[in-house]
Amino acid sequence: MKDFFSDRTVWITGASSGIGEALVYEFVRGGSRVIASSNDSAELKRVAESCIGMKGSITSLPFDLSESAGFDEMVGELIKKEGKVDLLLNIGGISQRALIKETPLWLDRRIMEINYFGTIALTKAVLPYMISNGGGHVVATSSISGRFGFPLRSAYSASKQALHGFFETLLLEHKSDNIKVSVLIPGRVRTNISFHALTASGKEHGKLDEGLAAGITPEKAAQQIIRGLRKNKREIPVGSKELLMLKIRKYLPGLFFRMAGRMKPM
Ligand SMILES: NC(=O)c1ccc[n+]([C@@H]2O[C@H](COP(=O)([O-])OP(=O)(O)OC[C@H]3O[C@@H](n4cnc5c(N)ncnc54)[C@H](OP(=O)(O)O)[C@@H]3O)[C@@H](O)[C@H]2O)c1
Repeated sequence: MKDFFSDRTVWITGASSGIGEALVYEFVRGGSRVIASSNDSAELKRVAESCIGMKGSITSLPFDLSESAGFDEMVGELIKKEGKVDLLLNIGGISQRALIKETPLWLDRRIMEINYFGTIALTKAVLPYMISNGGGHVVATSSISGRFGFPLRSAYSASKQALHGFFETLLLEHKSDNIKVSVLIPGRVRTNISFHALTASGKEHGKLDEGLAAGITPEKAAQQIIRGLRKNKREIPVGSKELLMLKIRKYLPGLFFRMAGRMKPM
């Protein structure tokens, strides 16, 4: 059986921090050729330096997920250099800490632009090359709040719920092209996500939330993700006991709304 890591070109967005960064190390250590992207060249350089001595290789490709107009050209250039992308891990994203009544519409659009349009635009740009190469695997990153609404996360939850619709359709339309699709559903992973979450003014929340501090490590998250990808799972829950909320929302919606309604917004 072909080794899961070697002889593979893996493109990872959100590679400068948290879950994406931990995935970079797993894949480079395993022997993959990794293209690491985020909007921060200095942080990508730090990640690339941490990979020195590992079995695989890494190239940085910084870009802003909210600037999707240039994606087709960027992907065309990348394919000229790298030849192919076997696995696209859309990990990059941004969260929110603001009530609906105080969130200006431009902020809803900003979060949708990064989390939803950025992710689908990159996927659409890579897809034709995967098809002509005989197949590939595309991964999107939702959240448990992509399966239910949650206080202070209206745009975030909406952007993640939208990803489910797009990526389920991608799977249905392109199964015969050997396009595999997986959606990650993280619960709580101890990363910078709450730190960079946008508040109503557009400024960063600037702190690690209590719930996240109690979450699993990015390294553990990366291992859970790889286990799911190896099995070609359509959905990969990532986290610990908080994932129970997914089942409660699905099978006991009344209880879910009582519990979530009582939670202190943070
Ligand atoms: N941590 C959790 O508990 C949790 C739970 C549910 C879902 N998730 C999802 O998991 C994914 C990874 O988040 P994380 O927890 O690892 O958070 P993180 O440590 O804050 O990492 C977020 C990554 O996204 C990148 N990013 C943000 N805005 C970008 C933009 N405009 N253009 C390009 N890259 C951008 C960041 O890069 P730069 O800032 O360097 O550009 C960073 O690499 C996100 O999609 C998040 O919604 C996380």
